[in-house]
Amino acid sequence: MRIDILTLFPDTVNAVLHESIIGRAAKKGIVDINCVQIRDFTENKQKQVDDYPYGGGFGCVMMAQPLKSCLDHVMESAGGLRSRVIYMSPQGKPYTQETAKRLNRDYDHLVLVCGHYEGVDERFIEECVDEEISLGDFVLTGGEIAAMAVADSVCRLVPGVLADEQCYTGESHWDGLLEYPQYTRPEIWEGRAVPEILLNGDHARIEHWRRKKQLERTRDKRPDMFAAFEPETDEDRKLLRELEKEQGRKRLTEPVTYRPAEAGDIPRILEIVQDARESLKRYHVDQWQGPYPDAARFEEDIRLGQCFVLTHGADIPAFFVLSPLPEPGYAAITDGKWSADIPYCVLHRAAAAKEYRGSGISQTLIRCAEEQARAYGLKCIRVDTHKKNKPMQNLLRESGYRYRGNILVESEPGHDPHRQAFEKILKDKK
Ligand SMILES: C[S@@+](CC[C@H](N)C(=O)[O-])C[C@H]1O[C@@H](n2cnc3c(N)ncnc32)[C@H](O)[C@@H]1O
Repeated sequence: MRIDILTLFPDTVNAVLHESIIGRAAKKGIVDINCVQIRDFTENKQKQVDDYPYGGGFGCVMMAQPLKSCLDHVMESAGGLRSRVIYMSPQGKPYTQETAKRLNRDYDHLVLVCGHYEGVDERFIEECVDEEISLGDFVLTGGEIAAMAVADSVCRLVPGVLADEQCYTGESHWDGLLEYPQYTRPEIWEGRAVPEILLNGDHARIEHWRRKKQLERTRDKRPDMFAAFEPETDEDRKLLRELEKEQGRKRLTEPVTYRPAEAGDIPRILEIVQDARESLKRYHVDQWQGPYPDAARFEEDIRLGQCFVLTHGADIPAFFVLSPLPEPGYAAITDGKWSADIPYCVLHRAAAAKEYRGSGISQTLIRCAEEQARAYGLKCIRVDTHKKNKPMQNLLRESGYRYRGNILVESEPGHDPHRQAFEKILKDKK
């Protein structure tokens, strides 16, 4: 790729384009970048390149003759090359990665004309220019910054300039998306950790995560690009569906605490119960599929002082019912046994609102329940869950609860009473 930049400031442009990656590529002869002084082609003694505008008005306009002579000079040695003469102009088509791709693909010689002052004589544009390119909808003092941007972005697509094609095909704007977030050492900086997934060496999962992040950040940062993006693979379509599902979800942006529930919290608790009911149904769990647990149940829990709500700002994202009293049904455990015969509390009912799923609220709920167990003066929590309730079983296991055996729970008449029993002995707080 050869690029000739016609400018009144060749030293400035040269200094920038002969640095770093593009500079090294020029040294190796992979790209050929020349900055040509327009003033050298004037035909007047004063080497004047501009003059007052016909019709009056502010400033000066660059004359057509020096520009044309300068252009003729560079074109003399371009015989056989596929050339394109481009005027850098705020009136041109806004520059994009697609334009960079096209220029690299269709031409091997670009002439970038930099205007200055009030611009250039219109007749030069009509006579000599193939297209006008704008860096954006704003006005620069001269075309140099725009020309450098075009030269740099086209050159990095020339084979051999970057180490690998993937260096640019994975970047923002290549396929209508922004790039995924990047991290480097150290693993933790200012208390901020690198996402765990990037540390485990599982390349398939990393690729999946990165593609999802590309879609997610394009949606969040550039809704215009996201609206124009057409997924072409099943993977992208699946990821977009996942993002859509997650969109209504809330994040934990404030500290989460908990307090005893009050009668006024019951409508919100029942909303959360409804969310849990729908989720349990999806897992074919027949728990909570009837009227249980209803307002009367929670009124009683509140009266006993065993119902608690988590608070996140003014919102209630979850609740739990923790009883400090032994559960008679737990005595008849089968296929295992409890670890110790010590006083325990029972986590009876607990659920999180659906908009908080994936935010870490369930783990926070378990932590709050454990804090309350300590407040009761108890060091053991027992809990039972339906054998098909895999999300709850996973949550318990990852929170340090151990499966101890099976029990029968008759609190919901007409439903499968078989439950898996879990237990955790709480460590003393340091
Ligand atoms: C001050 S500008 C002239 C603007 C011109 N009078 C107009 O209003 O369209 C001087 C030169 O800067 C360059 N320039 C200014 N804004 C630009 C942009 N957004 N993209 C590319 N080149 C630009 C052009 O080469 C232009 O001739």
